[in-house]
Amino acid sequence: MRLHGLAHRTHEPLRAWVKRQQAATLAQDREALGELALEFDGVIREQLASRRAAGDDAPDDVTTRIMNETVEGRALSDEEIVSILRNWTVGELGTISASIGILMRYLAADPELQGRLRAERQLLPAAIDEVLRLDAPLMSNRRIATCPVEIGGRRLEAGERLTILWGSVNRDEAVFGDPDEVRLDRDPQDNLLYGAGVHVCPGAPLARMELKDFMDALLDATVDITLLPGRPAVRALYPAGGYSEVPLHVRR
Ligand code: HEM
Repeated sequence: MRLHGLAHRTHEPLRAWVKRQQAATLAQDREALGELALEFDGVIREQLASRRAAGDDAPDDVTTRIMNETVEGRALSDEEIVSILRNWTVGELGTISASIGILMRYLAADPELQGRLRAERQLLPAAIDEVLRLDAPLMSNRRIATCPVEIGGRRLEAGERLTILWGSVNRDEAVFGDPDEVRLDRDPQDNLLYGAGVHVCPGAPLARMELKDFMDALLDATVDITLLPGRPAVRALYPAGGYSEVPLHVRR
């Protein structure tokens, strides 16, 4: 969020916004989803207005840079800037926080892996991708078939809707064998954590960097992370991935 220049005071309202958006998605409440999208546009438009008011004193961050960007010889319109920043922000908001809960819980539940990662930090990137493969931070995305297509023995006609369940795709026994087994030597091509094809996650390099830096800092600052007996982590409800509560004991 700091990258986009969103001040600390906006973090809590954005967290609450994600929760309301997940509830509206679950209820398939189109009206609420429309209002939430407009509300979010308002947050971003405020950012644009404050930067215009600041002129040369505007902070040099991603938001200011994109406002000064030209594409094919023209400046981007406010609508385009809002759309880009909305996608970047929303793409990141729920996924990174869910990933952090998943990773911390997993480390606590698997002391052997935790010890290995403390000793061999170069294994972190593969371990992060692998743990997030078996416990998905982003549950699903939707598609509308643009032409007749056959997938997994089922035929879909143009216009039919389908949901891609990443949480299931990345646990396909035919590809991964035992999907619960953490293996750091799996073929990265098989892991669809960040999707594939034209819609592959453009934030993947940023997400990987953020999660690796977070894990490094976490391991530096602690000597041991363990589960709390009798206090299991609480699963988040669809459409959210990960956990809504992860009680842990962290020894510094
Ligand atoms: C662990 C973190 C993340 C995960 C697991 C994740 C996962 C995904 C996946 C699976 C898709 C494909 C969606 C589809 O096929 O419909 C996607 C798309 C996208 N992601 Fe991420 N993402 C993460 C972090 C981020 C971050 C940090 C950003 C932005 C800074 C971001 C921005 C986007 C955007 C804009 C798209 C839409 C791309 C398109 O439709 O062409 N994501 N992400």
